[in-house]
Amino acid sequence: MTTSVVPAAGKGTRLGSQIPKALIPILGKPMISWTIAALEQTPIVDAIVIVAPSEALDDFEKLRIGEGWRKVVAIVAGGLDRQQSVWNGLQAMPERTEWVIVHDAARPLVKPSLIFAVWEAAQEIGTAAIAALPCTDTVKRTLDGVLIAETLDREQLWLAQTPQVFAAELLREAHEQALKDGCTATDDAMLVERMGVPIRLVPGDPTNIKITHPTDLLLAEAILKHGFGTH
Ligand code: C5P
Repeated sequence: MTTSVVPAAGKGTRLGSQIPKALIPILGKPMISWTIAALEQTPIVDAIVIVAPSEALDDFEKLRIGEGWRKVVAIVAGGLDRQQSVWNGLQAMPERTEWVIVHDAARPLVKPSLIFAVWEAAQEIGTAAIAALPCTDTVKRTLDGVLIAETLDREQLWLAQTPQVFAAELLREAHEQALKDGCTATDDAMLVERMGVPIRLVPGDPTNIKITHPTDLLLAEAILKHGFGTH
C-alpha cells in the first residue's frame, strides 16, 4: 500500500497572506485542492494524509467534504517546522503502508505522471527516489551574503523538488534518527541520505514550481491557463 503525506501547515508569511498558504486560491480554487486532485488522480496512491495548520483543521475538513476527496484518510495538525509536520503525518498513516510519497501542498502543479515516475524509480532501487531538476544557473556560495566565497560545479548540482518517495520503514527510521541527533532538514531525502542508502534522482518538471513568493502565484495561474500544468 502507498500513502501520500502532504505537508500543508506552512503559514504563507513570505506570500504576505493572512490565511494559511495552502488555502490561498489559484484560479479560484484553494492551492491544496489542486495538489490533492493530482494525488487522487494517480492510481498508485491508495491513501492521503494531510498535515494542516492546527488553527485551520476545520477549514480543511470542510474542504474534504466539499471536494469529495476519496483517498484522504486523515487530516492532522502540523508542527513548528516542515520536518515536524511530516513526522506528525507519518504517525497518522495506515499501518499497512509500505511506500510513502511526501509531496508539498506548495507544489500544486505536480502531474500524476511525475508522481508515478518517482514512485516507480523508488520501487526499482528498493529504497527511495526524488524528483529534481539539473541546475541551469551558475551557483555562488557566500559566507556573509556580501562577497563570493566560491563558485560551485554546476554539473554536480540538482534542485530537489517533491514528490519524494521512500520505503515507509526507512523514512520512519530516518526521522527517528534525526530527532535523536537534533538534525533539521528542509526535505526528507536529506534525512535518508544520512542513513547511507542510495536515493535515485528522477528528472522533475520545470512547471512543478513551489509557491513561495507572490510572483509564484501569478506564474502558477499563467502555467495553468496555458495548459502546461494540466493534470
Ligand atoms: O516553507 P516551505 O515553502 O519550504 O514549505 C514547504 C511545505 O512544507 C509547504 O507545503 C508547507 O505548507 C509545509 N510546511 C508544513 N509545516 C511547517 C512549515 C511548512 O507543513 N511548519
